[in-house]
Amino acid sequence: MNALLQTAIDAAQKAGKVLKEGFGTDYTISSKSQIHDLVTEYDHKSEAIIIETIRSSFPNHQILTEESGHHASDGDIIWIIDPLDGTVNFAHGIPFFCVSIAAIQRSDILCGVIYSPMTEELFSAEKNGGAFLNGQSYKVTQQNSLLHSFLVTGFPYSVKENPLHCIEHFAHIVGMGIPIRRLGSAALDLAYVAVGRFDGFWEVALQPWDMAAGALLVKEAGGIVIDYSGNDLNVMQSSSIIAGNSNIVKALRNEIDSFNLTIPKR
Ligand code: IPD
Ligand code: CA
Ligand code: CA
Repeated sequence: MNALLQTAIDAAQKAGKVLKEGFGTDYTISSKSQIHDLVTEYDHKSEAIIIETIRSSFPNHQILTEESGHHASDGDIIWIIDPLDGTVNFAHGIPFFCVSIAAIQRSDILCGVIYSPMTEELFSAEKNGGAFLNGQSYKVTQQNSLLHSFLVTGFPYSVKENPLHCIEHFAHIVGMGIPIRRLGSAALDLAYVAVGRFDGFWEVALQPWDMAAGALLVKEAGGIVIDYSGNDLNVMQSSSIIAGNSNIVKALRNEIDSFNLTIPKR
């Protein structure tokens, strides 16, 4: 196994162990951008362990994390880290959250790991190496009918401002009678798409740490991940994304685009 992937797995498992120990205990919680955008002391603990693990193997690599930002360096590899994706779940005692870690060189995602400590599920992928769950290879589903699909989505903390009409898109798609889940961890949502639990996922305004590892997992599982303009996803910038097998991604994008045509221009 490549040393980058080995380090990502090692870091995710160490951090996940700490999150699992902390789950349900009496920890501090505070708000960030607004009241429901939470951070707990375990987001910070997890992040510190991941950074320390990466630094001890690769002292020259750059690191970008959700909680402490960009740790600049000379290296051309950058690690993208969400130390706890699903913080609102964690803070409310719901055992659906994960650690998400990816390593990127220029625009190539070299490896991605998503670890769900409560279920001990480790999702991993290397560029051109396939997607795995606890060592077993997986593919996205072959569902080709949107009406028969099972989807997952999420909403940004700014949902009140209805960015890109995400509330109407949700209403439109759920109104088609399609079963949709909102589970509260974009990284795990993408991992679940990669292993075929869901046929597709969409969400607006994700950040690099929410989607980098998950995007590689979906691609390595034979799926595609695009932004709302239909371009290949650039995980280094905040993006609105659609992921899944190519049929479902195209059909979902058509629904979003055709719905947009019904919105009166101001
Ligand atoms: C959030 C989760 C959630 C998604 C939000 C993210 P966090 O990340 O992934 O599912 O809907 O857009 O910000 O705050 O739990 O790391
Ligand atoms: Ca996140
Ligand atoms: Ca987070």
